[in-house]
Amino acid sequence: MTERRPIIAGNWKMHKDHLEAIQLVQRLAYHLDESDYEGQDIVVAPPFVALRSIQTLIDSDRLPLALGAQNCHWEAEGAFTGEVSAAMLARLDVAYVICGHSERRALFGETDEIVNRKVKAVQKQHLRPIVCVGETLEERQAGRAEEVVVGQLRGSLAGVKVVDPEELVLAYEPVWAIGTGETATKEDAQELCAAIRAELAELYDDATAEAVRIQYGGSVKPGNIRELMGEPDIDGALVGGASLNSDDFALIVGWRR
Ligand code: 13P
Repeated sequence: MTERRPIIAGNWKMHKDHLEAIQLVQRLAYHLDESDYEGQDIVVAPPFVALRSIQTLIDSDRLPLALGAQNCHWEAEGAFTGEVSAAMLARLDVAYVICGHSERRALFGETDEIVNRKVKAVQKQHLRPIVCVGETLEERQAGRAEEVVVGQLRGSLAGVKVVDPEELVLAYEPVWAIGTGETATKEDAQELCAAIRAELAELYDDATAEAVRIQYGGSVKPGNIRELMGEPDIDGALVGGASLNSDDFALIVGWRR
């Protein structure tokens, strides 16, 4: 079996201005142990306006953190008032771009087709998409969780080539577990992550499916990270609320200690 490199990412959503962002990353760096960085990717995804400040901080302090963005437009440039392109993010040393987060799908009308275009735009810039999928509570209660997640996966990855499986990250984020304090049980999270991996084998091949990393997201906290990471198909976490607190995020990142 392939050893997959764990990947823990903090999605700050619309929190922290650029000054608060600097403070948060400085505190985080202070709390992290050198061993936390080894063999593991740690990503921070602040709002667009803080990317430049954090890029500079990472650079000047040589922090082994990767920079992530929460969204992008699918075109490289053009008359798209208010949008930011993957090409622009690449210029800021952004390494990962979250695509199709459930909040973007639910609040900003992002369809699988739009997510798909974004994923391709991100890849074109040699950045790594973190592609989010997840069912609502209604869909879960109707017994449709797997069908919904697999459908989103197929739509979001249609025509997407995977040359290096390390460069594609999936995030299973059940909508009902986001920001609610209600984490999926490790069994439920594992079941859906395994279903995602099985679908990746259908879409690509076994070797690709084995190597692609799948994160779980939804009320991940210091108290539940270890058991989630213990599941065979969970390779990381996409953390919202708890990534805004440097102590909590450091404990999550330090799950192996
Ligand atoms: P919470 O960790 O706040 O539940 O958010 C999860 C999330 O949406 C990460 O992208």
